[in-house]
Amino acid sequence: MGYRIAVVGATGNVGREMLNILAERSFPIDEVAALASSRSQGTEIEFGETGQMLKVQNVEHFDFTGWDMALFAAGSGPTKLHAPRAAAAGCVVIDNSSLYRMDPDVPLIVPEVNPDAIDGYKARNIIANPNCSTAQLVVALKPLHDRARIKRVVVATYQSVSGAGKEGMDELFEQSRGIFVGDQVDPKKFTKQIAFNVIPHIDVFLDDGSTKEEWKMVVETKKILDPKIKVVATCVRVPVFVGHSEAVNIEFFEEIGADEAQDILREAPGVMLIDKREDGGYVTPVECVGDYATFVSRVREDSTVENGLSLWCVSDNLRKGAALNAVQIAELLGRRHLKKG
Ligand SMILES: NC(=O)c1ccc[n+]([C@@H]2O[C@H](COP(=O)([O-])OP(=O)(O)OC[C@H]3O[C@@H](n4cnc5c(N)ncnc54)[C@H](OP(=O)(O)O)[C@@H]3O)[C@@H](O)[C@H]2O)c1
Repeated sequence: MGYRIAVVGATGNVGREMLNILAERSFPIDEVAALASSRSQGTEIEFGETGQMLKVQNVEHFDFTGWDMALFAAGSGPTKLHAPRAAAAGCVVIDNSSLYRMDPDVPLIVPEVNPDAIDGYKARNIIANPNCSTAQLVVALKPLHDRARIKRVVVATYQSVSGAGKEGMDELFEQSRGIFVGDQVDPKKFTKQIAFNVIPHIDVFLDDGSTKEEWKMVVETKKILDPKIKVVATCVRVPVFVGHSEAVNIEFFEEIGADEAQDILREAPGVMLIDKREDGGYVTPVECVGDYATFVSRVREDSTVENGLSLWCVSDNLRKGAALNAVQIAELLGRRHLKKG
């Protein structure tokens, strides 16, 4: 006996990956519903590579009663409208938007890092998925924190355009093509030209001069990993279609060398260490696409601070940063709370 699963935002970048990953991992499913807005109602999408076609339904008219879990990837607006009624109907919501992440009654989960926090889901019947940049960061930090206690993290991100949805990918494609034929650049989704450029601005500006994306990395890392860790982030959009990269500098309370950190990371859940100190001996975003892992490379000591390490970390933002993490949460929920069969 399997689950009845609804995917909300099934036609989007993350929703499609959710369907792919549910199928790839043979998630025990009796029935799957693909939901989106009225725009795509009636269109068909494939359930992973199973050959099974799903007719897209309008979430506005969908009754969540009798459905076990709803994986939401539709943005904060539609989530605010439909997640509470799904949860009230007894269907556990696993949400990818930022809406509920900092709600004290909603667990914010990365299964490799804080699986036990899932037990708090009953307060609202909602579980939140972190921001894509936070998810890969905490997977890499957790095993090092367990060994040498992290004091402070300085992170700079190199975030792909797929983090801004389908429209972000289309804008990079159209601008790149347009620039080659001499067209004028006309930014829409991004604030400046993204093709052949980088933009140090993701989400809105806050009063202190940081951006909301940077704030999210700080508060979400604290909520998932440890509130005592100090974090400062600079989030940058780069002209890469899929795959977020991060340059991470870490200061520890206890001494830890690069060799030991590599040994720890090699064994850590969700991490793939690719770290040869030679040409090409590291991972770049194009190589992580379609993979589950958080890749870590360039682990080295930072002699400018006491107990410092620097590293490079890359992951598929649509997978570990969103869809994979949501499916892992669904698997965890199934194992611990919603057992079937
Ligand atoms: N991309 C990432 O790396 C990433 C990572 C973590 C979290 N997230 C979050 O995941 C969510 C989806 O992101 P995405 O990248 O997949 O965006 P996307 O490619 O733009 O897709 C958006 C999806 O939401 C649906 N939608 C939009 N408005 C709707 C409405 N009023 N009612 C119902 N469905 C609606 C769209 O359906 P239609 O086809 O009908 O328009 C589409 O299926 C966002 O909350 C985002 O912040 C994204």
